[in-house]
Amino acid sequence: MNRRGIRWGRLALLLPLLAILLVGVLMFRAQGGFAPFKVPEEGSRPAALDDAQVEHGAYLARIGNCVTCHTTRGGTPYSGGRVFQSEYGSIHAGNLTPDPETGLGDWTLEEFRHAMRHGVSRTGPLYPVFPFANFAHLTDHDLDALFAFLGTLPPVKAAAPENVLTFPASWRHGAVLAWRMLFHRPRTQADDPSKPAQWNRGRYLVDGLGHCDMCHSGRGAMQSLPVEQYMAGGHITGLGWYAPPLDRISLERWDTAELADYLRSGVSRHGSAYGSMAEVIYTSLQYLDEGDALAIATYIKTIEPSLSRRARARNRGDLVTTGPASANGLLIYQNHCAQCHGDDGRGRGLDYPPLAGNPLVASASAVNSVRLVLFGGAAPTTEGNPRPYSMPPYVGRLADDEIAAVVSYIRAAWGNGAPPVSLDEVRALRRIPLD
Ligand code: HEC
Ligand code: HEC
Ligand code: HEC
Repeated sequence: MNRRGIRWGRLALLLPLLAILLVGVLMFRAQGGFAPFKVPEEGSRPAALDDAQVEHGAYLARIGNCVTCHTTRGGTPYSGGRVFQSEYGSIHAGNLTPDPETGLGDWTLEEFRHAMRHGVSRTGPLYPVFPFANFAHLTDHDLDALFAFLGTLPPVKAAAPENVLTFPASWRHGAVLAWRMLFHRPRTQADDPSKPAQWNRGRYLVDGLGHCDMCHSGRGAMQSLPVEQYMAGGHITGLGWYAPPLDRISLERWDTAELADYLRSGVSRHGSAYGSMAEVIYTSLQYLDEGDALAIATYIKTIEPSLSRRARARNRGDLVTTGPASANGLLIYQNHCAQCHGDDGRGRGLDYPPLAGNPLVASASAVNSVRLVLFGGAAPTTEGNPRPYSMPPYVGRLADDEIAAVVSYIRAAWGNGAPPVSLDEVRALRRIPLD
């Protein structure tokens, strides 16, 4: 390359970088510049406890599922330490109990509101694994109730372990600042007066405390959540499950009452919850009151399907279409699966989910079906479904190529019409056991 070529080459690189920087700075100013990075210095401790407020806070904490992220396996609830893995390393959630040294014991109400809304605490700007972009939607009334509830927990002295991150992600102030410049678009929304109160309540819960988009939306660069992939479905970072799209078309087969019921009980005639969704229902959504469950169902059934071509292309990219489904699949199905799911694939009531005409089985990503067949699963135990039926694991009983064959069979049979999965995909998934 001659000198001019090099110079042009550099310029070609520099211009987009400058443009990105400029957009970043403009967006940053639109987010309030450095103001969100200042933690309030003056503040108040909550006044005398009010039982009704604490009870309301306990309910909100359930729906926000604070306990799942802020508890290690076998640890004291809310005492922190759970680790989140990503390609940049591991991040630990902190201690939310009122211990003054390692928890929120000497936090003011203003500090708490600020951390929840702006994702900035004494520690510095918080990594976006913490769903502050969602919690920013919460009203003062709800945030104050949450804080009051957390203050009633037994204090536990437990400092979260140090994060283990690669540079530059490890540089909290710099990395989070840059990330926020590029990707953080605060979008608190007022109620839409043209919509019924129930719909607005549903949106408040879904986009706010429920943080459903953390799993159900597609991800962009550096774990961002681009608006055009809102609820478009995606693989969940660090957990490996595929969360399906939530929108008007994908949820057409459920009526609102059925969907609300599924969110609380974990079962329905369309299928039952498994993987991360079973965990979410078990720890959080089963406690929804009936009105809130109906509100959520009402709202998610109106979401317009994402128009993002990238999301669709990416989902299509997950398909591995090597090799035809082997005839062996039918035989394995009859021997191992039909006793529960039926020869016709229609399952049995609430006990065994249908596989025929089930969009999750025919989904672009076959990850969930393969993992279920490998490792088995059970719907969550809930008040509405106290003794869930389970699906046995086949990891020791069927060889990888047999699992590929039977999953390919259920994806194609009964008009499901989805392409087969390959032996390689099954092998890769076998190596990632359920956590
Ligand atoms: C998806 C997982 C997740 C959920 C759900 C979640 N958190 Fe967190 N939270 C985190 C992580 C991870 C951090 C640490 C982030 C960091 O260190 O940058 C954190 C940090 C925080 C902090 C800042 C603590 C500090 O010392 O700076 C507060 C306060 C907090 N969370 C409160 C809550 C509350 C209240 C809820 C429920 C309404 C909640 N979180 C739900 C993952 C979660
Ligand atoms: C931790 C990740 C995670 C979160 C958070 C989460 N989901 Fe899910 N969800 C999943 C996964 C994985 C599936 C697929 C497995 C299944 O169907 O049980 C799923 C399935 C579903 C389904 C079934 C869809 C269908 O077409 O059959 C519905 C409805 C649903 N989720 C609603 C919600 C709502 C509403 C929220 C927020 C209140 C939410 N989810 C939060 C992971 C999550
Ligand atoms: C003993 C009964 C039983 C047998 C045998 C069984 N399953 Fe299941 N299956 C279940 C139950 C129960 C669930 C729901 C699990 C959950 O919700 O966690 C399920 C769920 C599934 C799902 C998820 C459906 C969805 O909505 O996404 C698939 C796929 C599946 N089974 C395929 C198979 C295949 C393939 C076989 C044979 C290799 C098989 N099952 C054998 C009971 C069974």
